[in-house]
Amino acid sequence: MIQLKNICKSYNGKKKIVDDLNLYVNKGEFVVLVGESGCGKTTTMKMINRLIEPTSGQILINGKDIKSINKNSLRKNIGFVIQNIGLFPHYTIEKNIATVLNLCKVNPKTIKSKVKNLMNIIELPYDVYAKRYPRELSGGQQQRIGVARALANEPDIILMDEPFSALDPITREQLQDELLRLQDELSKTIIFVTHDIDEAIKLGDKIAVMCDGKIVQYDTPEEILKNPKNEFVENFVGKDRLWKTPDMLRAQDIMNKEVVKVHANRSVAQAIEIMKKNDTDVLAVINKKDNNEKLLGIVGSNRFYGINDHSIKMKDIMKKNIIKIPFDMPLTDVLNIRQDNKLKYSPVIDVHDNLLGIISNTSILNVLSQIVPESEEY
Ligand SMILES: Nc1ncnc2c1ncn2[C@@H]1O[C@H](COP(=O)(O)OP(=O)(O)O)[C@@H](O)[C@H]1O
Ligand SMILES: [Mg+2]
Repeated sequence: MIQLKNICKSYNGKKKIVDDLNLYVNKGEFVVLVGESGCGKTTTMKMINRLIEPTSGQILINGKDIKSINKNSLRKNIGFVIQNIGLFPHYTIEKNIATVLNLCKVNPKTIKSKVKNLMNIIELPYDVYAKRYPRELSGGQQQRIGVARALANEPDIILMDEPFSALDPITREQLQDELLRLQDELSKTIIFVTHDIDEAIKLGDKIAVMCDGKIVQYDTPEEILKNPKNEFVENFVGKDRLWKTPDMLRAQDIMNKEVVKVHANRSVAQAIEIMKKNDTDVLAVINKKDNNEKLLGIVGSNRFYGINDHSIKMKDIMKKNIIKIPFDMPLTDVLNIRQDNKLKYSPVIDVHDNLLGIISNTSILNVLSQIVPESEEY
């Protein structure tokens, strides 16, 4: 839908502020550009509605070079929300929201009904707020009006440049939640700029981490947290971040991948040897068939207690009705299932029912101890 191709921007032939930047945004996607102040976020964003022209490169919207689109008609289809939104102080709220509609010569009746509807969406009722002036509203309310104004012309694309930065943390959270709700309802294509990685993680379907006019990594929040591409991203994201957003952790992130497997026909004596040799207290019992390994059950060392006949086979003592955990189940769900069912070992499987690993209390603790910052003492 929106494509930036090899975009460069410099002023007077000086150092490139945006340096060979490539970005592809799908229709309906919420993409966040995040990076430190001065890294080129605003410049990048303003090139999309031609408030700034690139020095070189090409920007396409729905496959069409935006240079070939008249600036005004381009901007009619792109809502723009900025910090301290720039509401006109001498206009009522109603007139502020209607700005673009008036410019587009929409008929007054339609404008009124649109404004009413928009004010409903942002939960500032028309009857209460329409005739007020911006100064009579709180910062958060003004910012909501800014969002309503950007939506007024029903654009497909919305650009938002640090829209919530000037708000106090609580109002900010509220507006973030509202924006997510709005996005669920309206599914616009949104490009959102922030210097705040928490905000980026909370809002973005995808995050583009920027540094010195370049995109260093462009990925889902989850991937960026789990697999930062380099040290810059790792530091920017913060090492303990994953722990602050435990919902991002999934079964495959907390399982022990080094599962020792044992055939169903092995005896207790053999199993004990295998456990000793591999320094493990759990075995996955499998049945080999046509090159596939089917998981039949789990045997923990506790199963051997009180068994005197060491020729008994794994298939006879293994725990059979095991609860298999899908690889992408969130950590919190895994913890709940384990607790509710008093599970000691939980095999993790892929979509083809293949065994990927086993979750135990030890594997969970291992992961958590990696994530909790070392400096903290317990
Ligand atoms: N009109 C301009 N002329 C010269 N330099 C500029 C101009 N606009 C922005 N810059 C510089 O470009 C860099 C990136 O700016 P900007 O895109 O606003 O960064 P961000 O939004 O990430 O904070 C900054 O170093 C800024 O000083
Ligand atoms: Mg900026």
